[in-house]
Amino acid sequence: MHNRSRTIVSNQPGLHHNLATTVARHLGQRFLAPISERSRELFAELSDWRQANPKPLVLDSCCGVGESTANLAKRHPEAIVLGIDKSALRIDKHSHYHNGVDNYRVVRGDLNDLWRLMVDANWRLSHHYLLYPNPWPKAAHLQRRWHGGPLFPSLLALGGQLQLRSNWLIYLQEFQQALAVAGHQGQLAALEVVEPLTPFERKYRDSGQSLYQLQANLS
Ligand SMILES: C[S@@+](CC[C@H](N)C(=O)[O-])C[C@H]1O[C@@H](n2cnc3c(N)ncnc32)[C@H](O)[C@@H]1O
Repeated sequence: MHNRSRTIVSNQPGLHHNLATTVARHLGQRFLAPISERSRELFAELSDWRQANPKPLVLDSCCGVGESTANLAKRHPEAIVLGIDKSALRIDKHSHYHNGVDNYRVVRGDLNDLWRLMVDANWRLSHHYLLYPNPWPKAAHLQRRWHGGPLFPSLLALGGQLQLRSNWLIYLQEFQQALAVAGHQGQLAALEVVEPLTPFERKYRDSGQSLYQLQANLS
């Protein structure tokens, strides 16, 4: 990964004008896209893992190489931590980031399926980290952002202390607004990074970019 990183370029000067209607529409309907057999098999395996470790569950969604998952496992010794990312390339690099703790797993999986399977099985999280999700900064891509997509109700239903980080302030402002549409409050603040939690966080910090964090209690 290169050390320097450019700031986000977007044709959106502020919150997307369709944000509230898009979020409201998704809150009112169930996302019915088919769930793959691979996701079902993975979820069955994760359910066994959970059953063998009956502790609070921390989810690190879009964990990339899972550096954050290992860091969070250290930060949450009372819990088990699950890192999920769809990129095999990133997940396969995880061994470089192993830090000796064993209360976590990093798996390749698609959150579009797994969040729904978790909700349907009544999984509830103690904490949910979503660190530097792909921003999809083009206005036309609103629905690819987590808060603008059909999975937003599933994310809310998983509950827990949500922590979201981004180098694109508009993403977090939109997410905060989407939470408000759903009746939740989010606290947005600038983030001073001392010890980076993830490779993207390190890259942005080393490039002198401003970083932000949004927190919400979804319990
Ligand atoms: C910008 S990277 C950030 C990775 C990591 N959190 C970090 O900060 O280093 C965004 C990650 O989201 C993952 N991702 C995007 N959509 C996903 C999905 N539907 N299911 C699982 N992972 C997804 C991508 O594979 C990518 O690794």
